Amino acid sequence: MTTSPSPSQLYRDGLFEDRVAVVTGGATGIGLAIAEEFVRLGAKVVIASRKMHRLIPAAKGLSRDYDAEVEPFRCNIRERSDCDALMAFAVERFGKVDFLVNNGGGQFLSPAENINEKGWKAVIDTNLNGTWNMCKAAGEAWMYKNGGRIVNIVADMWRGFPGMAHTGASRAGVVNLTMTLAVEWAKYGIQINCVAPGTILSTGAHNYPPGTLESMYVANPLKTMGTCEQVAWGVCFLCSPAGDFMTGATINMDGGASVWNGRWPVPDPGGPPDIPVPPWPEDRWPEFAVDPEEVDG
Ligand code: ADE
Repeated sequence: MTTSPSPSQLYRDGLFEDRVAVVTGGATGIGLAIAEEFVRLGAKVVIASRKMHRLIPAAKGLSRDYDAEVEPFRCNIRERSDCDALMAFAVERFGKVDFLVNNGGGQFLSPAENINEKGWKAVIDTNLNGTWNMCKAAGEAWMYKNGGRIVNIVADMWRGFPGMAHTGASRAGVVNLTMTLAVEWAKYGIQINCVAPGTILSTGAHNYPPGTLESMYVANPLKTMGTCEQVAWGVCFLCSPAGDFMTGATINMDGGASVWNGRWPVPDPGGPPDIPVPPWPEDRWPEFAVDPEEVDG
């Protein structure tokens, strides 16, 4: 499957001209949609994750389709030295970093009693410590001196997160960290906010049996699912002049799931929404596909 370049359906052309963004988890799903919206609006972008075989086709595909500057960079956000290397690369390559989007993260479905120490620590290390590492790296490499905007992608964990205790705890930690840094780092001209997506039809749907994620549309009062592009719009809103007076906030993009306890019945429209699941980058841009063994080791 291939897709063609398209203008932003929401923002004006050139909104982010001469801006530089770093997006972690930027090769697939929500992160790729965020990178793509930045690129559509004229920004230069570094996309980062642990998987070069996903980053390479995504960076080459976006660069070619939009005649843009998009660079891939391998980074494990659990390692502070990797985060420092990513930020140093972005500053060296593009001269600055205006926006950091902490989208890289991971979790797995499990009842709490079955999450072992290794699994718990891995999720906390990625989602919470990884975000912390990236914020500190961005501050030290650029933003303490020059300001900037940080957007942390969290989750709808406001009433706990049954089935994913680790991700609920780590994302709640990120929301609280965001509030603290918003106050402490205001003096540096750093604004930091969160976007909390509910159920989004993302590339991650490929990891579940077909239809599993789609069936979750009933869990919010709008009775639909979100798209990666909508989350990207939320991020770009916070980075745009619309976000000039915002810091320490979280935008919920969840179809109202976080405010609905289910006791007030909302009629079911009669089926899941017709939202396409985005392809993996190597399927979207097969001409740039690379051998995972060779690039990821
Ligand atoms: N996405 C998921 N896990 C990640 C990690 N450890 N580093 C960077 N991006 C990620």
